Amino acid sequence: MAKRNIVKIGDEILKKKARAVEVIDDRLLALLDDMRETLYANDGAGLAAPQVGVLKQCVVIDVGEGPIELINPVITKTEGSVVGPEGCLSIPGKWGKVERPQKVTVKALDRTGKQFTITGEDLLARALCHEIDHLHGILYTDKMIAFIEDEEEE
Ligand code: NI
Repeated sequence: MAKRNIVKIGDEILKKKARAVEVIDDRLLALLDDMRETLYANDGAGLAAPQVGVLKQCVVIDVGEGPIELINPVITKTEGSVVGPEGCLSIPGKWGKVERPQKVTVKALDRTGKQFTITGEDLLARALCHEIDHLHGILYTDKMIAFIEDEEEE
């Protein structure tokens, strides 16, 4: 595995749509491994492939319950809505208030190519929405209510 550089806001690649994965080969598995290592090295909750400069529909999430890998993820159901703080490894040092569903269901492929469904609430729902947005060229700053000032952070 190898840590990859994270693309920062202002880079045009973050505004581009990622392509669906058609073949899960060694190169794609290496990408997923590298994304996981990069996520942990940067203490993040989620990372999407465009953030390491690769326009493929791959996401790695860990909200403290172990890594979740998603290939070609699609949100199939949402419920409720919560406004909460959100950060992004591509927007270092900033937090914003963003409205997200309280609960989401996502279908995706795992690294063996098998389809699965995951339902997440609260923090996991937020992470799923945030990372899937990255695959469509959307950053949280595109939909946030406002940045959170330093003194509000805790
Ligand atoms: Ni992000």
